Amino acid sequence: MTTKQNLAAKAETLRARLHHHSYQYYVLNRPEIRDAEYDRLFNQLKTLEAAHPELVTPDSPTQRVGGAVAAGFASVEHRVAMLSLDNAYSPEEIREFAARLARVLPGETFRYVCEPKVDGLGVALLYEKGRFVRGATRGDGRLGEDITQNLKTVRTIPLRLRPPLAALDLLEVRGEVFMSRDAFERLNRRLEADEEEPFANPRNAAAGSLRQKDPSVTAGRPLDIYVYGVSDARANPFTSHWEAMQALGEAGFKVNARSRACPDIDAVIATVAELERDRASLGYDADGVVIKVDSLDQQARLGSTTHHPRWALAYKFPAQRTTTVVRKIEVSVGRTGALTPTAILEPVEIAGATIGRATLHNADEIERLDVREGDTVVLERAGDVIPHILEVVADRRPPRAPRFVFPASCPVCGSAVSRPEGEVVARCANSTCPARLKESLLHYGSRRAMDIEHLGEAVVDQLVDRGLVRDFADLYRLDVEQLAGLERLAEKSATNLHTAIQSSRSRGLARLLFALGIRYVGENVARILAMEFGSVAKLMAATEEALAAVHGIGPRIAGSVVLFFRQEENRRLIAALRAAGVATEERASAGPKPLLGKTFVLTGTLDSMTREQAKDAIRRLGGRVSSSVSKKTNYVVVGADPGAKADDARRLDVATLGEEEFRALLES
Ligand code: IVH
Repeated sequence: MTTKQNLAAKAETLRARLHHHSYQYYVLNRPEIRDAEYDRLFNQLKTLEAAHPELVTPDSPTQRVGGAVAAGFASVEHRVAMLSLDNAYSPEEIREFAARLARVLPGETFRYVCEPKVDGLGVALLYEKGRFVRGATRGDGRLGEDITQNLKTVRTIPLRLRPPLAALDLLEVRGEVFMSRDAFERLNRRLEADEEEPFANPRNAAAGSLRQKDPSVTAGRPLDIYVYGVSDARANPFTSHWEAMQALGEAGFKVNARSRACPDIDAVIATVAELERDRASLGYDADGVVIKVDSLDQQARLGSTTHHPRWALAYKFPAQRTTTVVRKIEVSVGRTGALTPTAILEPVEIAGATIGRATLHNADEIERLDVREGDTVVLERAGDVIPHILEVVADRRPPRAPRFVFPASCPVCGSAVSRPEGEVVARCANSTCPARLKESLLHYGSRRAMDIEHLGEAVVDQLVDRGLVRDFADLYRLDVEQLAGLERLAEKSATNLHTAIQSSRSRGLARLLFALGIRYVGENVARILAMEFGSVAKLMAATEEALAAVHGIGPRIAGSVVLFFRQEENRRLIAALRAAGVATEERASAGPKPLLGKTFVLTGTLDSMTREQAKDAIRRLGGRVSSSVSKKTNYVVVGADPGAKADDARRLDVATLGEEEFRALLES
């Protein structure tokens, strides 16, 4: 063999091994090798491909991280139309479906397959000789969009099939791309931390992620798929749908373990009831159950209407909707002065929870719904997501109910409300507004800020209402006697609170900067600022340009910091905090900073230290700790029972460290 053939063979061996282990890990949840070993193989292949680009194949595992940004998506005509499903809402309608089948094919018996109807996005995956060549959205059923590059980033979509289906010249598989509820929550927390708009529900998150123009963004989104069929039953080498699904599983696809083969319609109805009962614990949103005739021969003979196949039915779970009455619309004021309207409802039960209030978000939303006090509204709860008001039932509005007028002045302090052009949020402009002060104090004392235990809502309300606290610095002047004088605070609790307040003085600069509640200064930004400037005094003296020049600080943050310290009342506050003995300088943490510029993400538990200790150790050596993995992450430290961040690391090709390796790094 020539060297060239040798290298090609080596690349192929690596690809095959990586495909195998990726399948074991993502689809079967049964890894056979350690993550570090997978990474080693992956890096070998990457190095080889980098040196010999002609060896890169479209189905290489390295192609999952996302390629070039697309200008738009090409249109794809589906070989077989992606039809809809006929719906049913009760067991009776399921029996009618069976009766219909018996009328069309008299004298025959039918077996069925029941599958959870996952609420995501239907896609068509095309394979040629076992290689994934094209993936498309459903679109209007006839024309879809080519999203091949984005679909390649979904780990549970095989890029190459396993035998025997791998041998087929052509195979089109259909499935539903979705995001699990856990993954959705994590993604939203990540987006919020970056001050980006979170998604309303897992389905929107999956859709938004799948239609990204930049596949590397999709690669960072935790998408998953369940396949549910082969599109052309005639080209299908099997006799039943169930058999085909087993074969798809063997070929490397992820098939739903909650699917059931049912010998008759009674079994179907029992399965549907079972899935409906377990609906909340599936881990993903499902809006019903798809019931399919199992025999592919019968499917072919039953055929389709222009709208739906006659051999399938979607049983829809009862809508998690109900109506109730809006007793009152309240507007509360948050820490930043934002006015948030909330509908106080006649309590109703919806999907097992009693709901008494729903956010109305902002003035625009009230306008859009035209919701008024006394209105009957439709309340919807989608999956685990917080209930929201869908619409007003117009003909049940009480006579002469006045339009809701959004307050022009702060409902708490009466100051003017400002709403800058182009913004949806109206804010109380008074920085000493008691409502703002209360929220600010709660934030100041919160665990990740100054960590003042026992400084809860009841205490803060009284401190502000009695005029004992007008700003953060006032907290430090409180004595035990004053605290013990508060309602529902026993002598012992007062002492504890007093101790907690006093010890918060030495939390350090980073926590203080976060605690101040400067707009756009979250925990991480606060840490960067603390590390870079070392003291409040230096930060106050910094220009907008100097701030924006710091890695990780954009112009928006820089502007906000400068604005904050330009205000006289804030400068007075800093002076007062200093006078109260609050540390406004970073403790000079001596020693070398070998991890400067390195970003770490922690996942799983470590044996030898707590999460906080690990973070401190990294920061002491100059490193940064981030909560989510991105291409800019240098290391992901993987402890026992790691979360999805370990997957993210692999997906984005970020180095991982086991506990031993991590300790060695800290010690070296
Ligand atoms: S079969 C020709 N099976 O539901 C029959 N569809 O309203 C095609 N869906 O757009 C559909 N889970 O994306 C089928 N197990 C399942 C499904 C499923 C979710 C979606 C599918 C389709 C929609 C039909």
